[in-house]
Amino acid sequence: MEKISISEVSKHIGQDVQLQSWVFNFRSSGKIFFLQLRDGTGRIQAVISKNEVSAEAWAACEKLTMESSVVVTGVVNEDKRSPYGYEMQVKDIEVLQVALEYPISKKEHGIDFLLDHRHLWLRSERQVAIMKVRNEIIWLMREFFRNEGFTLTDSPILTPTACEGTTTLFSTQYFEETAYLSQSGQLYLEAMAMSLGKVYDFGPTFRAEKSKTRRHMMEFWMLDAEAAFMQHEENLKVQEKLVSYVVSNILKSMKNELALLERDTKYLEKVKAPFPRMRYSDVVKKLQELGSDIKAGEDLGADDETMLMKQFDTPVFVTHYPTKIKAFYMQPDPEDPNVVLCDDMLAPEGYGEIIGGSERIWDLKLLEQRIIEHKLSQKDFEWYVDLRRYGSVPHAGFGIGLERTVAWICGLDHVRETIPFPRLLNRLKP
Ligand code: 4AD
Ligand code: MG
Repeated sequence: MEKISISEVSKHIGQDVQLQSWVFNFRSSGKIFFLQLRDGTGRIQAVISKNEVSAEAWAACEKLTMESSVVVTGVVNEDKRSPYGYEMQVKDIEVLQVALEYPISKKEHGIDFLLDHRHLWLRSERQVAIMKVRNEIIWLMREFFRNEGFTLTDSPILTPTACEGTTTLFSTQYFEETAYLSQSGQLYLEAMAMSLGKVYDFGPTFRAEKSKTRRHMMEFWMLDAEAAFMQHEENLKVQEKLVSYVVSNILKSMKNELALLERDTKYLEKVKAPFPRMRYSDVVKKLQELGSDIKAGEDLGADDETMLMKQFDTPVFVTHYPTKIKAFYMQPDPEDPNVVLCDDMLAPEGYGEIIGGSERIWDLKLLEQRIIEHKLSQKDFEWYVDLRRYGSVPHAGFGIGLERTVAWICGLDHVRETIPFPRLLNRLKP
């Protein structure tokens, strides 16, 4: 008997096949059982008639509960009335396990209950759709960089230094030393760019951020890209090309998932490069007009980003932030050293920052000076400074946060549903 997945039933109409699946719902009319089956690839209804199966099989059906695991054998029929388009007429059923009473029911559950049961919640149709979009976004990003000639070179997770400031580091014992969980692979990627030219990494990153917002996680996945000889202008071009590429392809390949998530795709359809650009100083003025209490020189808060991005249908670049509030490695603007050649890409519909990038300082003296100004350990950054000692070149790059990108594309109101097991403030379980 051929074992197939539910997504393949359309190729087996009229044939006997076997489905290995879970029962996510069922009802019975006394002589007929209607089982709703799922297997991760799709959903289908299986119909079991009492007089067409063995007494044993029928007895097994009578014990079924939600989320029981079953192997059903039967013939696939087309069914225009079914939301799935197909149905299986069952000839035999093997029950692998009768599930205990399933804690997640059709009724509304509070978010804490769902997060406590995340390991089970992940089986729901919505969560399956989100995971599929996440998977697709990852493959599209990888495909984009491959097409653009970037080499994947992954960065370490255990590091001796901070990339994005010392206040949000998770530390762990590394034999006699202290190690920190990586906040971004960027510094290592800069070294790789001096070896391979155009590179990217993709992996988990960590920030001990005491922020309880809909866009902050303690552990999230970031793709950093870096290219030798690339400067500010080209950096922005790569970013808008990447995001347009991902969105336009998701709209084609993830239609069903986006529909299931009730995503209104009209804004996503407008995501086409080039994206509008605004300088930080103009953004502050605009926010003040909109009623924010932000003062010149302050970083944009999550609320400011939301306020600003409710005004836009497409992503926007915010560039030229004050040097004072940005990372030590950012290249000052030659026309005004009080600002840096950096950019944040903010997603529309109130979503806010999904990318942070910049041109990097490539002058040896200036970098050494910044390390001192930022009170960073000169010893620990020696290797990084070396990159400016041996064939230094202008270079730039950026990091895109996967979960924020998934939240925006899926139209979710919180990043907690965008990763299988979210690590949030006060949540390390399950
Ligand atoms: O803007 P960030 O801090 O930039 C960097 O780390 C650079 N070193 C990247 C680079 O130039 N290679 O982080 C990049 C992105 C943000 O735009 C955001 O999408 C995501 O990472 N991010 C977070 N996502 C979820 N939870 C958090 N706590 C995040 N912090 C940053
Ligand atoms: Mg940032």
